[in-house]
Amino acid sequence: MFRKPDWYESWAKANPIKSSGPLVLVGTVGVALIVAVGIVLLGNPYQTSTVQTGPRGIALGVIKIDASRTKDPTIEDYYTEEPWLPEEDEPLAGDIYENVQVLGHLTEGNFNRLMGAMSLWIAPEEGCAYCHGDGDVETYGEDTLYTKVVARTMIQMTQNINEGYPDHVGGAGVNCYTCHRGQAVPSGIWFSNTPVNANASGWSAVQNRATMNSEFTSLPSDALEKYLNDYNVIRVHDLESRVDNDGTASIQDTERTYSLMNYFSNALDVNCTFCHNTRAFYDLDQSAPQLGQAQLAIGMIQEMNLDYLTEIEDVLPANRLGPIHGDLPKVGCLTCHKGYNKPLNGLDMVTDWPELTTTEAEVTYE
Ligand code: HEC
Ligand code: HEC
Ligand code: HEC
Ligand code: HEC
Repeated sequence: MFRKPDWYESWAKANPIKSSGPLVLVGTVGVALIVAVGIVLLGNPYQTSTVQTGPRGIALGVIKIDASRTKDPTIEDYYTEEPWLPEEDEPLAGDIYENVQVLGHLTEGNFNRLMGAMSLWIAPEEGCAYCHGDGDVETYGEDTLYTKVVARTMIQMTQNINEGYPDHVGGAGVNCYTCHRGQAVPSGIWFSNTPVNANASGWSAVQNRATMNSEFTSLPSDALEKYLNDYNVIRVHDLESRVDNDGTASIQDTERTYSLMNYFSNALDVNCTFCHNTRAFYDLDQSAPQLGQAQLAIGMIQEMNLDYLTEIEDVLPANRLGPIHGDLPKVGCLTCHKGYNKPLNGLDMVTDWPELTTTEAEVTYE
């Protein structure tokens, strides 16, 4: 049997050891070690990641708190097919079909290749029938369904975006899938919803109510209407006090500008610094190159909304029009971007589809 020596009791009383200090230390280090090993083995549940948006070394990047948001899941369902090299004496669509007004210059093989892709991009369930009906191919020249008539305008609109705005859509380019993603009605379109308060008039009629168009803030809900479906100038109040009122922005213009800026940021899932130098919002010369790209996009969208979507006004059925004013569906940044700084993470949408990059009646296949 172990027996404490006689001197021990008195020695222990004279020299008490406080063990809680070291125990807390050992415990803390131990728990930290277990968590660290856990993260290494199982992965960090709150991972962040950075999307580089400027030259290396100067920290121009967008930090995403939820790393899974950096990859667009709809990329997986994208269908594409390389062009078919024209065969010798291959007929053109315009020679063999009855009613081809915009794609007549395509070779037969490439015309059908595009029809197949349009079905998968717009209406994968219904297929050809979505635009051509249930009849047999002999009836495909008829313009009976509104969807076919709309699709023709859409082809011209897509060609015009790629041809007219290379400095915006640049490397990636756009095709039907950029907006539609396998749905007949693309997500991220918008309608007029003002006045939001029928009991008020003037200024207060368009704001102080959280709506989708004001990004659920109390800012004005008519920013998209004024800046993307009309040509109002995006401006805030002057930096000087007591300036002459001529030409300067009112307080409401200022609020409307911020409403639009919230929309831009959410549509691309970025913050203000993606485009602006926050020490000088007012000085566009000090901004990031992305601001120039956004400026081009504003003009591009005005053109789509005012020149192309208005074309389909007489054919769209009533259930496709706005819920409040029966207005036409409109495009915004969100229609293409869908919450990513580059739609589909910058996936190349045009190299396989040269037919959709030019309004000229000529395509070169390589
Ligand atoms: C999203 C709508 C859409 C879908 C889906 C679609 N087409 Fe078309 N199709 C059109 C448009 C628009 C035209 C007319 C093009 C023009 O005016 O140049 C057309 C024309 C045609 C023509 C020429 C008919 C003629 O005699 O003038 C054929 C053939 C055709 N499509 C076949 C198909 C086939 C096969 C499919 C399914 C694989 C299909 N299309 C799916 C929109 C569509
Ligand atoms: C910039 C975005 C954009 C692109 C690119 C685009 N569309 Fe559309 N599309 C729209 C909008 C907005 C509408 C109107 C929504 C509606 O009809 O309710 C629309 C409507 C349509 C419709 C009518 C669908 C329905 O059921 O009402 C068809 C068909 C269509 N597009 C075909 C195409 C085809 C084919 C292409 C490629 C050649 C294309 N679109 C490219 C934005 C786009
Ligand atoms: C995607 C790019 C982009 C993002 C993100 C962005 N802006 Fe802007 N901003 C612009 C553009 C484009 C203009 C209009 C420039 C012009 O006058 O042509 C502008 C204009 C402004 C103006 C008016 C400047 C003036 O000359 O009066 C202010 C203020 C402003 N933005 C603030 C913000 C704030 C705050 C945020 C974040 C909530 C933000 N912006 C996010 C692109 C952006
Ligand atoms: C027709 C589709 C379309 C619409 C609408 C659109 N964009 Fe884009 N945007 C693109 C494409 C495609 C790219 C990527 C181009 C590339 O690969 O370089 C892009 C790139 C950008 C970039 C550069 C992103 C980066 O990472 O550097 C900015 C900024 C931008 N868009 C802002 C806007 C704003 C703001 C709007 C609305 C006013 C808008 N875009 C509307 C298609 C669109």
